[in-house]
Amino acid sequence: MKNIKNLVIAILSLVSLLLNSPHSIAQSKIEAKDIKDKMQWFADAKLGIFIHAGIYAVDGIGESWSFHNKHISHADYMKQLKGFTLKNYDPAAWAKLIEESGARYAVITTKHHDGVAMYDTKMNDLSIVKATPAKRDMIKPFFDELRKRNIKCGAYFSLIDWSYPDYPGFLKDSSRYKIEVDYDRWNRFRKFFQGQIREISKQLNPDLWWFDGDWEHSAEQWESEKIRSIILTNNPKAIINGRLQGYGDYETPEQNFPVSRPKFNWWELCMTTNESWGYQNDTIWKTPYEVISIFVDAVSNGGNLLLDMGPREDGSIPTEQIMVLKELGLWNKKNGEAIFNTIGGIPQGHFYGPTTLSKDSTTLYLFLHGKTSGQVMLKGLDNKIEDIVVLGNNTKLTHKVVGKISWSSVPGLVYIDVPEKVLDKYITVLKLKLDKPVHLYRGQGGFY
Ligand code: GLC
Repeated sequence: MKNIKNLVIAILSLVSLLLNSPHSIAQSKIEAKDIKDKMQWFADAKLGIFIHAGIYAVDGIGESWSFHNKHISHADYMKQLKGFTLKNYDPAAWAKLIEESGARYAVITTKHHDGVAMYDTKMNDLSIVKATPAKRDMIKPFFDELRKRNIKCGAYFSLIDWSYPDYPGFLKDSSRYKIEVDYDRWNRFRKFFQGQIREISKQLNPDLWWFDGDWEHSAEQWESEKIRSIILTNNPKAIINGRLQGYGDYETPEQNFPVSRPKFNWWELCMTTNESWGYQNDTIWKTPYEVISIFVDAVSNGGNLLLDMGPREDGSIPTEQIMVLKELGLWNKKNGEAIFNTIGGIPQGHFYGPTTLSKDSTTLYLFLHGKTSGQVMLKGLDNKIEDIVVLGNNTKLTHKVVGKISWSSVPGLVYIDVPEKVLDKYITVLKLKLDKPVHLYRGQGGFY
């Protein structure tokens, strides 16, 4: 009897497998293709500007974390609401600066962990529109200006909301309640924050969603799948970052730089320009050279850079920040061909520095750090080089192939002559036109 039952179950599962699997395989292929298509602008964009705007700029203290970590009381933190004016806010100038930097997208805080909405929320009264002298939404006019310039618009949204009375978490060592004990209360919070996501979708229609704080709860608790579907129902092309407990489209390593190439299809390094996300009295600025070399490093490893700036409460941007963005922009203007719309370069070991490739892999770009001149070397390149120029000044460079043994298939070493006078102030780019898509020898050398 038991055997017959098992047989029936086996036959039924086989039938259902045959019926369902072709469909589900086809289905997942369609989804994978859809995702690849919608991610294309992001993959080509390479540079985004992150903006941490919030009431924390009033006293110049840590965004949200300052009260959570009890450096200041929640009541004192909230007093900053009264000092947030935006009186010199010029969204057109912001968008222009971002355009000048070469960035193709921007991501701005619509709400940080402190719960203060930077847009006109109807879900509660804790917004800069209702609770600060600024009395206005700062996101919508900014997105309008970005869109005029064809720059994609990203909304940072913190899932965590330490100010909302029905959110369980509050200070680092105290919480309001446990979800398991009061699920109704948790549901009230879910209704609230998902309502805000709906509002932002409708009012602002972001091209990209940058969630944060997912670590405090699970995918089931946040209802990540539902959040994804709320967003995609409104805008099927919206991109969602990876901080949604497994329901995002790309990874977001933060402040830490990869050494080996990340294995993700799409990733973005988010990084501060000094050491703070929001505006603070922080003078540890990264230099333009440092920012550009980090940027090049990310791109050569197949990623993007999301470079942060922290405006003051009046909406002005610190001079040092502006300077870095402008220098980055000048460099991009000259060398952008090696950055935008390219793909990650050849594996490490062939060239002692970062590289990128044109999409068809017939052009190889080499990035020379610092003041490298003289002969630079390339190993294991199994291609003929048709032409080498320096980006931005079009000087043609000469090269020779050393040590090519006629009877061996191992390529010789390429030495390129780089005169000092062609060097860029920050990073020089050499453009190598190859005879065919790049082909590399990856062996260990030797006799054959
Ligand atoms: C972290 C911090 C947050 C910051 C974010 C930017 O998640 O919690 O303060 O906004 O990183 O990536």
